[in-house]
Amino acid sequence: MSTLQFTIEGLKATIEGKEILKGINLDIKGGEIHAIMGPNGTGKSTLASTLMGHPKYEVQDGSVTLNGEDVLDMAVDERARAGLFLAMQYPSEITGVTNSDFLRSAINARREEGSEISLIKFIRQMESKMKELEMNPEFSHRYLNEGFSGGEKKRNEILQMMLLDPKLVILDEIDSGLDIDALRIVAAGVNAMRDENRSFLIITHYQRLLDYITPDHVHVMMQGRIVKSGGPELAKRLEAEGYDWVKEELGIVDETVGESV
Ligand SMILES: Nc1ncnc2c1ncn2[C@@H]1O[C@H](COP(=O)(O)OP(=O)(O)O)[C@@H](O)[C@H]1O
Ligand SMILES: [Mg+2]
Repeated sequence: MSTLQFTIEGLKATIEGKEILKGINLDIKGGEIHAIMGPNGTGKSTLASTLMGHPKYEVQDGSVTLNGEDVLDMAVDERARAGLFLAMQYPSEITGVTNSDFLRSAINARREEGSEISLIKFIRQMESKMKELEMNPEFSHRYLNEGFSGGEKKRNEILQMMLLDPKLVILDEIDSGLDIDALRIVAAGVNAMRDENRSFLIITHYQRLLDYITPDHVHVMMQGRIVKSGGPELAKRLEAEGYDWVKEELGIVDETVGESV
């Protein structure tokens, strides 16, 4: 029996005075993969950033809990320690910090003082995961994301996920910028991490990724809300027919969000 439970209730958030999230509800159990699909500008990345605690996004209402613990009350580093992980749509480049230094610090930040991972053990783990992701070993010595191609950045995000062993993984458009081979490798990495004590929230514009990672639940986001939910067949229909039928069905003219309030 899984013990993991991630719950979002009535989550509303604003950025620079604009209301973007207008009441999100999600119930994610251990081992489940939920996909959030939707056109651009509908609030998907805002949801990811709000869950991680990005300071630009202000929560106005609602609750987010991980195993009953109030996530919104936690600082970003506490969220990471609690097991939340976000692979970003646009990972930052950080000059002067090597990838391996960054990864080791991230691992140690989640551990108690005095129980830091040994350098040998860390290198062994990093090298084995990099091999799984078919990453060139030189990437461990490069500055974090600096000069990485879009696809290399995405693989590096997945490398972080594998090493950090999170409970709730949020992947924001991890498929963008990936060619089909890289997509397969990334999907294999995610599938290898599937576990009844880990859950995934996979944000994607296209259903292509979901050919390789089968979700349990699929949600469509428009106007800062989840407007439709279903199983994997919903993603297939969106792939075949696009988003227009959802808009028609629900009487939505403009699916984007972000008008001033
Ligand atoms: N950092 C930001 N500053 C200003 N506006 C933002 C910011 N992030 C998101 N928004 C606005 O929020 C809306 C939704 O954006 P986003 O969450 O990125 O959508 P999606 O990921 O679905 O494409 C857009 O109108 C966007 O301009
Ligand atoms: Mg986005």
